[in-house]
Amino acid sequence: MLVKDKNFNLFIPQAKIQQRISELSKQIARDYQDLNPLFITILNGAFIFAADLIRQIDIVSEITFVKFTSYESMQSTGKVDQILGFDDDVFQRHVVLIEDIVDTGLTISEIMQELKRFRPESLEVVTLLMKPSALKKEVQIKYVGFEIENKFVVGYGLDYDGYGRNLQDIYVVEEI
Ligand code: XMP
Ligand code: MG
Repeated sequence: MLVKDKNFNLFIPQAKIQQRISELSKQIARDYQDLNPLFITILNGAFIFAADLIRQIDIVSEITFVKFTSYESMQSTGKVDQILGFDDDVFQRHVVLIEDIVDTGLTISEIMQELKRFRPESLEVVTLLMKPSALKKEVQIKYVGFEIENKFVVGYGLDYDGYGRNLQDIYVVEEI
């Protein structure tokens, strides 16, 4: 698949993504049974993952959304500018952040730091993808869908300069 000046090569097919989401949702439902967790979805990238994941977590919970920026095209800037804030009350709540991908870890660790100021009862992260070799910051991620190599990926919510979020599979973006 050719997009702008790049090639999208199939990497994780949708069936594999859905299978993993079903496992993650069972694990989270077990861990948070009776805790009425608050899921905070990090926009834009995690919106599709969150929608699929949450619908399979069959426990009473709350869902909300926040939006930050840190990435410019294919390079992490390492800075997090908050756009839409935490207006929900996280004090003494069991909070689970839903993220699409942890790359350098800078974004998620800043978000976690910011969130901890509001003193949640517990705070964990579920990410669909993680690039362990790209980590620049030590972060505790409890639920990881797939550990992947340090390659730029798109699809299933993830974009390359705005393109590809709607694709059902995940692709690696490569030079032509
Ligand atoms: P850091 O480096 O702070 O980055 O962990 C996290 C955010 O950067 C975006 N990101 C990607 N987006 N394909 C994408 O479409 C990628 O391979 C990729 N790597 C990082 C993403 O928004 C994530 O929240
Ligand atoms: Mg993101």
